[in-house]
Amino acid sequence: MSPDPAGQLRVEGLTVRYGRATALTDVTLTVPRGAVTAVVGPNGAGKSSLLLGIYGSVSATGTVQVDGEDMSRLKPIARARAGVAIVPQGRQLFPRLNVWDNLRVMAETLRLPGSSVDEAMDRFPILRARARFLAGVLSGGEQQMLVVSRALMGAPRVLLLDEMMTGLAPHVVQSLCATVASLADEGVAVLLAEPSIGAARSIITRGYVLIRGDVVASEEGGWALDSAYQSAMGVELDKTVAAEAAHPVPAVDPIP
Ligand SMILES: Nc1ncnc2c1ncn2[C@@H]1O[C@H](COP(=O)(O)OP(=O)(O)O)[C@@H](O)[C@H]1O
Ligand SMILES: [Mg+2]
Repeated sequence: MSPDPAGQLRVEGLTVRYGRATALTDVTLTVPRGAVTAVVGPNGAGKSSLLLGIYGSVSATGTVQVDGEDMSRLKPIARARAGVAIVPQGRQLFPRLNVWDNLRVMAETLRLPGSSVDEAMDRFPILRARARFLAGVLSGGEQQMLVVSRALMGAPRVLLLDEMMTGLAPHVVQSLCATVASLADEGVAVLLAEPSIGAARSIITRGYVLIRGDVVASEEGGWALDSAYQSAMGVELDKTVAAEAAHPVPAVDPIP
């Protein structure tokens, strides 16, 4: 991990609250350029809150720096123009716009030249074949390829991927993982959030385990991260069993 603030996304003390509920507590982590950093945690752990907090689309306290530049006070659109891109959970395409227009909207948002739409379609040849199809009728894999191409339009320095692999066929997952690994090789700081490591194990350089809004472990390499995640989940399970033993759930509803 580079101590040099240039060449990394640095998140310090990030806390995200929704009303009185805290989704993320004082999270500090580093996402170096040229590597794939993972955040793994079960549903509800705060992965999306972390990525949205970094992108600026939920309000957060703490700091977010890219290559030493403070982004903490910028709106999402300004962060996007400064080189932070997100593939959100659930994809969030415009289903009633065609593939071309989905990409054009991003080109306009980022103030890119019209040629950037063509360049984006070159990343996955299937997108060119589907250019006039409504995004809503594409397969899950095609939609995810569209979202990834859209995210890459501004040549981002930081790429946030929220459950990129969920629900996709293994060959699509493999192709997306290969794309992500080559982006990291090109110098992008990739942050991959997943509820299980699965097929991404071999492309993960380093990562963090997130449980209930807290980072409970950090590891180098996908295999070490996977085993740290399994141990952390084992500890969680033990806590749940102990809590249930202390307050047993009645087998039948008590009669008032
Ligand atoms: N918009 C929201 N309003 C209120 N609570 C939310 C909202 N989004 C997420 N949460 C809560 O914050 C916690 C973390 O959620 P999230 O960041 O979506 O976790 P993950 O992505 O790891 O599943 C959960 O308890 C979830 O219910
Ligand atoms: Mg999520």
